[in-house]
Amino acid sequence: MIQIDGLSKAFGGLQAVDACSFSVGKGRVTGLIGPNGAGKTTLFNMVAGFLKPDDGKVVLDGEDVTGLPGHVLFHKGLVRTFQIPHEFSRMTVRENLMVVPPAQVGENLIKSWLRWSKVRAEEIRVRHKVEEVLDFLSIDHLADELAGNLSGGQKKLLELGRTMMTDPKVVLLDEPGAGVNRTLLGKLAEAIQRLNEERGYTFCIIEHDMDLVSKLCDPVVVMAQGTVIAEGPMHDIRANREVQEAYLGGGMSGRMGHHHDVARQQAAAQAATLTPREAGA
Ligand SMILES: Nc1ncnc2c1ncn2[C@@H]1O[C@H](COP(=O)(O)OP(=O)(O)O)[C@@H](O)[C@H]1O
Ligand SMILES: [Mg+2]
Repeated sequence: MIQIDGLSKAFGGLQAVDACSFSVGKGRVTGLIGPNGAGKTTLFNMVAGFLKPDDGKVVLDGEDVTGLPGHVLFHKGLVRTFQIPHEFSRMTVRENLMVVPPAQVGENLIKSWLRWSKVRAEEIRVRHKVEEVLDFLSIDHLADELAGNLSGGQKKLLELGRTMMTDPKVVLLDEPGAGVNRTLLGKLAEAIQRLNEERGYTFCIIEHDMDLVSKLCDPVVVMAQGTVIAEGPMHDIRANREVQEAYLGGGMSGRMGHHHDVARQQAAAQAATLTPREAGA
């Protein structure tokens, strides 16, 4: 589905992504993990067309799409989750879904907008789709709520819903679990799984919550210092020495550990949420 080949990006003297290569297989949920500062978000930004790579290639469904802008990739079915823009927080959940532009607006639709009956048909289609998305995500009860009043987890579900409005082929999610409570995390995981299994969505997910990663992702790709250091099923990744060392080196000891080490894991998790600047580095 997506081939990432030798992708690189430097910020000043800092090599954020360094000849990174891996594939996102069609119909799979690929996990992307690694210590803070590994270059995961920068990689996503390049793949989704929000940042131009210095070097390397991105191939989508056999087509070289390197450096194409985000809106062009969007029309090719590749989307990053839509953050809910600030101005939309004063719109309801339903309105937030209504205003997502259709990905497949071709000339035909634009021409047909001149014809009232077609406009009307399109409006009815969008309204149906909105109700279907609300139902799929079990957020019907929130339809008339202002987006700004939603909890962190509810916002993530709405973001996923906005993505669904475009019938994407491949969805990139950057830390969907961050700031989401346990109950909603379960709901979010279930929605991702069902979109993958029932509708054939391909996902690539950056996530720090290892439980979520083991539950959803196969394979898992591990990045450290801008490059891929391991790739495979989560079971093998956990046992991989180089991966463990990368996390230790990043001050994230315990992050890959097991449940009995909860206090250590929490301390490490906290440390991991600090940016180098915040940590005084
Ligand atoms: N716009 C930017 N300008 C300068 N440095 C950046 C920028 N974006 C990211 N970085 C740096 O690039 C490195 C990789 O960051 P990032 O891709 O956000 O890592 P991750 O998502 O894996 O935590 C970090 O050292 C970060 O500070
Ligand atoms: Mg990041």
